[in-house]
Amino acid sequence: PPLDKLVGLPDFDAAARRHLPIMNYTYYRNGAGAEWSYRNNLEVYNRYSLRPRTMVDITNIESTLQTTILGHNFSAPFFISPCARGEYGHINKEQGLVEGAAAGDILYMPALFASMTIEEIATFKKDDQVTFQQVYLDSNDTATQLIFDRAEKSGAKALVFTVDSAADGNRHRAARYGVGSADSAYTLITWDLYDHLTTMTDLPIILKGIQTVEDAQKAVEHGVPAIYLSNHGGRQIDSARAPLNVALEIHQQAPEIFSQLEVYADGGVRYGADVVKLLALGVRAVGVGRPFMFANVYGTEGVERAIEILKHEVAIDAANAGVTDLKNIDPSIVDWTPNWAS
Ligand code: FNR
Repeated sequence: PPLDKLVGLPDFDAAARRHLPIMNYTYYRNGAGAEWSYRNNLEVYNRYSLRPRTMVDITNIESTLQTTILGHNFSAPFFISPCARGEYGHINKEQGLVEGAAAGDILYMPALFASMTIEEIATFKKDDQVTFQQVYLDSNDTATQLIFDRAEKSGAKALVFTVDSAADGNRHRAARYGVGSADSAYTLITWDLYDHLTTMTDLPIILKGIQTVEDAQKAVEHGVPAIYLSNHGGRQIDSARAPLNVALEIHQQAPEIFSQLEVYADGGVRYGADVVKLLALGVRAVGVGRPFMFANVYGTEGVERAIEILKHEVAIDAANAGVTDLKNIDPSIVDWTPNWAS
């Protein structure tokens, strides 16, 4: 279908499913095991209802979409999560994601296992475009140092170190088509190692894949500038909790964490209200993975359109919830008693 017929992020999934070879679509869509975490990521937002406030002045809501992420300005509190293998969606690989992010003025985090090298992706960046480079560790320090240096030289403003992939994800769907899950590390990742990595680069190192309040506290102790709550889109270990529940756990047990470092989160975000609920807990910026990979099937314009749609939805959903300023949003906008047990 033509782009202007797509009205929401889930439409890009449906369109890509019809267009892409089944193997490519399946690699993007796949979750681990029985895909409970994948489905739960989508459904968890429905478990917590909004408590809309009425008769408040919401006329400026759109201007409050702007935010900073580690000090860099962006037009929206959401970003493109790092996802491998752009070539499965488009012949121009990651080009549409870089250019779409620039056009929509949002943050893009290229994956180390993108279909282009770090340097190739950088050639498509607008002059002042800020990207954060996702990294895994290589087999030894020298090789890892090379990755860090290449990211820094290519202009990345932060490293996003993924810590939720100690081993391969158990992905049945993709395996049936002979597609492996090459986004894992097998490298021993420890807090001591994090301290060591910070001596190898001047860039801030964000930890992606934090899933408990305990690890969030550890991150504060180790001076981590930002943590990124994620279960890898339900692709690594099935039964991992949804990031919204991890954010809620932090809110309930150690709310100070949200002001001690920046907190990002992703997983199952498809609607404006999903973004609003994560922001309500103190999450600073929200990642979106699969929908942008599916939007990239339409290239740069598709990614731009997806950004536009989500921006609009965040603004109208926040307004209807009676949020006057997304930066002053607070948890009381959501009823945190789950609608049903599952
Ligand atoms: C990913 N993700 C991912 N994460 C990462 O740190 N390094 C990687 O190489 C990849 N690769 C990857 C490929 C594909 C096809 C997908 C769908 C995802 C996880 C990604 O960053 C993010 O956490 C999830 O995609 C978020 O969930 P949603 O938005 O896809 O539901």
